[in-house]
Amino acid sequence: MTARGYLVACPNRLDAISKQYDVVVVGAGIAGMTAALSLDSKLKVALISKEKPSKSSTYKAQGGMAVAVGHDDSCEEHISDTLRVGQGLCRKDAVDVLVREGPLALEFLQGLGADFCHDEKGLVLTREAGHSRNRVVHYYDYTGKYIAELLTDEVKKSNNIDIYDRCFLVDILTVENDCCGCAVIYEGRLLYLQAGVVIIATGGYSGLFSHSTNSDSVSGDGIAAAYRAGAVISDMEFVQFHPTAFSTTGGNIFLLTEALRGEGAVLLNSAGERFMQDYHASAELAPRDEVSRAILRESAKQGGSQIYLDARHLGREYLADRFPQVYTELAQNNFFMEKDIIPIAPAAHYTIGGINTDLWGKSNVTSLYSCGEAAATGVHGANRLASNSLLEGIVFGRRVAAHINVGFKAKNKNANFASGVSGAYCDSDVDKLRLKLDSTAGVIRSGSELKETLRWIKGKNTSQDTKADIHTYHMSNAFQLAELMLTATLLREESRGGHYRLDFPNKDEHFLYKHILHQWGKEAVFDE
Ligand code: SIN
Repeated sequence: MTARGYLVACPNRLDAISKQYDVVVVGAGIAGMTAALSLDSKLKVALISKEKPSKSSTYKAQGGMAVAVGHDDSCEEHISDTLRVGQGLCRKDAVDVLVREGPLALEFLQGLGADFCHDEKGLVLTREAGHSRNRVVHYYDYTGKYIAELLTDEVKKSNNIDIYDRCFLVDILTVENDCCGCAVIYEGRLLYLQAGVVIIATGGYSGLFSHSTNSDSVSGDGIAAAYRAGAVISDMEFVQFHPTAFSTTGGNIFLLTEALRGEGAVLLNSAGERFMQDYHASAELAPRDEVSRAILRESAKQGGSQIYLDARHLGREYLADRFPQVYTELAQNNFFMEKDIIPIAPAAHYTIGGINTDLWGKSNVTSLYSCGEAAATGVHGANRLASNSLLEGIVFGRRVAAHINVGFKAKNKNANFASGVSGAYCDSDVDKLRLKLDSTAGVIRSGSELKETLRWIKGKNTSQDTKADIHTYHMSNAFQLAELMLTATLLREESRGGHYRLDFPNKDEHFLYKHILHQWGKEAVFDE
């Protein structure tokens, strides 16, 4: 029985309620809902989510889903683009699965009624950075919301899925490295969801950064819980920063989809000049890590001046029709794309690290699976190809379910726990953490600053017992994951994809194919 969770062994937890399921799916984004819907309908499933759907990264995804279905496209080309952008760290077998099962993922959505943008010749495919051709299936500029709503409707119609909204994952329950459920807080009470299998699909940890296109709540709780349960966590140093995020007057960060650049928008410096061609042969359509660094460098060249996105030449009619969400949001902020250039800056967008899984989403903990952004399947390597993430959610959500469907065995193991959280954090610490991550673990990193931030994080981990409530668990998870991320950023003494270090600005072949693995109670190591 794990004793390193927030809940330590105590068989007499009187206030806790226990419920029995076959499968608990934690996370109701694209991956979690796809997995829940693809499980055998004879299995009794609990689908839990921390927040309302509009806070999920799926809901906020604008661009679309990359699938090699164009008449001039091929899986080989999609695989080759994914591997090139992943900079030598993709697991090739995982990329192969991702891309080759792409058309089936599309059929799955179409089978649920998805009607993506099309014309008389068929699907209209858009372009995003890093792709060698138009490959992105989309629904205007709110593909994620469209898919999320479709899946939510389907989940609500299912007879075998119980939905727990606003439900916080506290710990994953294990007995001798065998997962047998999880503890959650629901409607103010501790609830044990005992189950044969748990699937973690809680998304990534970009919300740990204060400048992020994700909601603050996207802070990796599922990854942290899996780590405490003994799961191997990998690739935590790789964070993808989206080049074009807009700060609203209300202080929110709003994504300006890469499809805008795919359709012809360009980047301008403060002198009104294009500059991307000086940094990369693919100019505005270079991979996101390259564009984000170029933006910061160009801005620094001019004393930290503002960089802009310019889509004026595309015209009002086209922009408002093709990008209605972006157009409306900007208009509400008094920017009109047909006549204004739009101030942008990179923001944390997608995290590559997570729960290390095999091609069926299995972790090293028996009966603990993961899919979507929470998982590290190796499909993204050191940098994710645009619009491969919605695809990943569907492909691996379906694979996890397929694997469970064939081998499911009910369990009757009880792990009872009581509260005991270590680490004394307060709200201002989390605010400070998020700002420190922005400034030290952002697009451009340096060893000395990373070390200093890691020292500060470790200093906060006092092993002193504090209140056992959602807020405290949330803060502790944030510090736990930040420590893993910074440890990995320091170990990787090179620059590759989404990890760029000023003190090691080049790729080092010594690190090629190597992933950094973390496991509770062990030093972080490179795999072979
Ligand atoms: C975007 O629309 O630019 C985001 C798509 C993605 O993150 O893949």
